[in-house]
Amino acid sequence: MTNLSNKKKTPILPKHIAIIMDGNGRWAKQRMLPRFMGHQKGVSALKKIVAHCSEIGIESLSLFAFSTENWQRPKDEVSKLMSLFLKLLQKEVQKLHENNVRLVIIGNKSALSKEIQEHIIKAEYLTAKNNGLTLNIAANYGGRLDIISAVKKWQKEFPMATLDDLTEEKLSPFLSLSDQPLPDLLIRTGGEQRISNFLIWQMAYAEFYFSDELWPDFDKKSIDKAIESFTNRERRFGKTSEQVNQC
Ligand code: FPP
Repeated sequence: MTNLSNKKKTPILPKHIAIIMDGNGRWAKQRMLPRFMGHQKGVSALKKIVAHCSEIGIESLSLFAFSTENWQRPKDEVSKLMSLFLKLLQKEVQKLHENNVRLVIIGNKSALSKEIQEHIIKAEYLTAKNNGLTLNIAANYGGRLDIISAVKKWQKEFPMATLDDLTEEKLSPFLSLSDQPLPDLLIRTGGEQRISNFLIWQMAYAEFYFSDELWPDFDKKSIDKAIESFTNRERRFGKTSEQVNQC
């Protein structure tokens, strides 16, 4: 990694990186391969990025694997994506555990197959006490649904409360990933520049980094470049540049 000088008092590394892994289908199409092979290559890229983030000391990495909207894809593609997810849970969890990675799955798990749900429970239990990288995989996740579920959970916990009592601080603990630092860097590959309903509450102040690289091509060097771009930004959180540089 080059020039990680900390000119503007931002931390050298983002604590929490979120990634929208886009471009698997186009990667396959460019090679006249079925889309599924793009997703397979996407899994290889995912493993390398997880290993790298763990090595360089990132606290949390959140990957958007399957959105609530992805069910609308052709049945065959959905089922192949689910098989890949299951395979990851069956084959990679032990390795993650050995590398002190804590695995967390966010999203509406009840719509996933029973087999996947069972593996998730086992994997989260096995890795729960690990204190290296926290790897959050979003599966059947939608940011709007996350907010609605949080409001419902809050209401269940405080049945006597009225909506007037609801504040950002009171709702935050009921949202996904509330035990982790908020994402400070969002990376999206594949050339599109949108958030696609991913962690929309949590990323209110994230820095966005868009890469034209297709996800299967995204590697260590690519993420180092994104991190370097992050370290050179000034994060003001609504304040002026002068105020930020005074503290
Ligand atoms: C976007 O590419 C990618 C996805 C919808 C899923 C991301 C999935 C993986 C990296 C592999 C599977 C991993 C798990 C855990 C299920 P796209 O298909 O939208 O690409 P395109 O925009 O080029 O068509």
